[in-house]
Amino acid sequence: MSTLTFGIIKPDAVRAGNQGKIIDRIVANGFKIRGMKLIHQTTKQAEGFYAVHAGKGFFGELTEFMSSGPCVVLALEKDGAVKAWRDLMGATNPAEAAEGTLRKDFASSIGENAVHGSDSDENAAVEISYFFSKLELV
Ligand code: CMP
Repeated sequence: MSTLTFGIIKPDAVRAGNQGKIIDRIVANGFKIRGMKLIHQTTKQAEGFYAVHAGKGFFGELTEFMSSGPCVVLALEKDGAVKAWRDLMGATNPAEAAEGTLRKDFASSIGENAVHGSDSDENAAVEISYFFSKLELV
């Protein structure tokens, strides 16, 4: 069944000029882009988005990094979109990411790992609505 997931092309990948290559891979892998925009989050916005990780040792580093520059937020549609996007991204730690995945090709560390993806349909809906209004989704 065709479903939605939420993705971010993170500040490291945008800084390196890899956003176009990543979008190309998204389209080549059969995702429909239903929403897409370039944003530069405040630290507060990043803290709200990653609230589930509040209290973890890497929370400050994560939210500082996510607000360190522009990123591309995406609403992606495909059959089984959550899993399909996680498969294309690869493991969170690029050292463990499989060949052919985005993190293998574009990520440099577990913190600066090029892309984010929702981990469930429920969280995909929450994450899409954090960044997109209904009018911004086609
Ligand atoms: P993401 O999929 O965006 O969800 C939470 C993020 O926290 C994760 O990707 C990593 O980039 C980051 N993260 C997880 N573990 C660590 C860690 N040990 N050190 C720094 N960042 C981390």
